[in-house]
Amino acid sequence: MAHVQIRNVSKIYADGTPAVTGLDLDIAAGEFLCVLGPSGCGKSSTLRMLAGLEEVSTGQILVDGDDVVGRPARERDIAMVFENYALYPHLDVFANIAMPLVARRRPKAEIRDRVGRIAGTMGITEHLAKRPGKLSGGQRQRVSLARAMIRRPKMFLMDEPLGHLEEYMRIELRREIRALHEAAGGTTFYITHDQEEAAAVSDRIAVMSSGELQQLGTMKELIERPANRFVAEFVGEPPISIFEELRATGTEVSIGDWRLPLPPGSRKARPASAGVRPAHFRIAGSDMPGLSAEARLVQPMGESAAVLCDTPAGDATVIVPMAAVPREGDRFRLVAAPEHVHFFAASGRAIRSGED
Ligand SMILES: Nc1ncnc2c1ncn2[C@@H]1O[C@H](COP(=O)(O)OP(=O)(O)OP(=O)(O)O)[C@@H](O)[C@H]1O
Ligand SMILES: [Mg+2]
Repeated sequence: MAHVQIRNVSKIYADGTPAVTGLDLDIAAGEFLCVLGPSGCGKSSTLRMLAGLEEVSTGQILVDGDDVVGRPARERDIAMVFENYALYPHLDVFANIAMPLVARRRPKAEIRDRVGRIAGTMGITEHLAKRPGKLSGGQRQRVSLARAMIRRPKMFLMDEPLGHLEEYMRIELRREIRALHEAAGGTTFYITHDQEEAAAVSDRIAVMSSGELQQLGTMKELIERPANRFVAEFVGEPPISIFEELRATGTEVSIGDWRLPLPPGSRKARPASAGVRPAHFRIAGSDMPGLSAEARLVQPMGESAAVLCDTPAGDATVIVPMAAVPREGDRFRLVAAPEHVHFFAASGRAIRSGED
């Protein structure tokens, strides 16, 4: 497994497009790192620079302390999986999976054994004699994952490997990808659009936007301590409720008719907006201190419902257990514990207590 250090890496394409800017990322040996971010934010460009498929414009990439910039892909001991599985159509599944071992001239008995084991893990044993054309999309993706993970390279690089599969299939394959990562003991760099998938497979998540790293942390950290408004709004489902009209007076701040203390030590930072996650709001009686609200739309989501409310500070969403769901038109107050109210400066940076 490899310890990967991406140091101040930028990528500007030949046509002048800046894809990645000043990226610093430290990926521990054996870590499963996910990259999340909107389309065009530089995820694939970063992966391709790690792979050696794309030149680095400036900066360094160290693998176990060695600068690999300029070294071709074949010298980097990596295995890659992309959304389009790139299988050899004229070879059967066994031969496709065995390819990396055949290329390394492993003994036949060992190849049979290792292909058999990984096919078992991926649930494709009964398809080993078929050609890829005779398989479903999900089965083909299992074959391409098996082929990538049959070796024990230093690094696995995966660019939305489950991207086009049906949801139930993605959920099933997540477990297997995580299990293979652990069995292989490699370092995994994994791009996805799907936050739930990122939370399920990864140790940590890097959130990118416009070519820059916004925050690196566990899903819990991204949810509970977003570094800025972008992360607060991009991560979390349903999205955080943001309130832009705040009135700060001395030691207090008002969000609509909800008055709450400013976090201690953050008074000079002047909050420009505040956010509360739907799961962190609670419904309280109209006589309680909080943000007065009227339920506008109830959206059931299994055992709970997302209730969209009108408030004097704008729209707010609260998650409520099915048993306690209000009716549309009901009035109440929304309250949240102070540690669940996030304040942001005009720049978007999160204001933390103790910054004065
Ligand atoms: N070969 C290229 N030449 C010029 N610009 C490119 C090239 N490849 C990517 N870009 C641009 O670089 C930026 C980052 O692209 P990249 O493919 O890394 O995004 P991404 O985060 O992987 O997006 P997606 O989620 O859509 O796959 C985009 O603005 C894209 O248009
Ligand atoms: Mg991409």
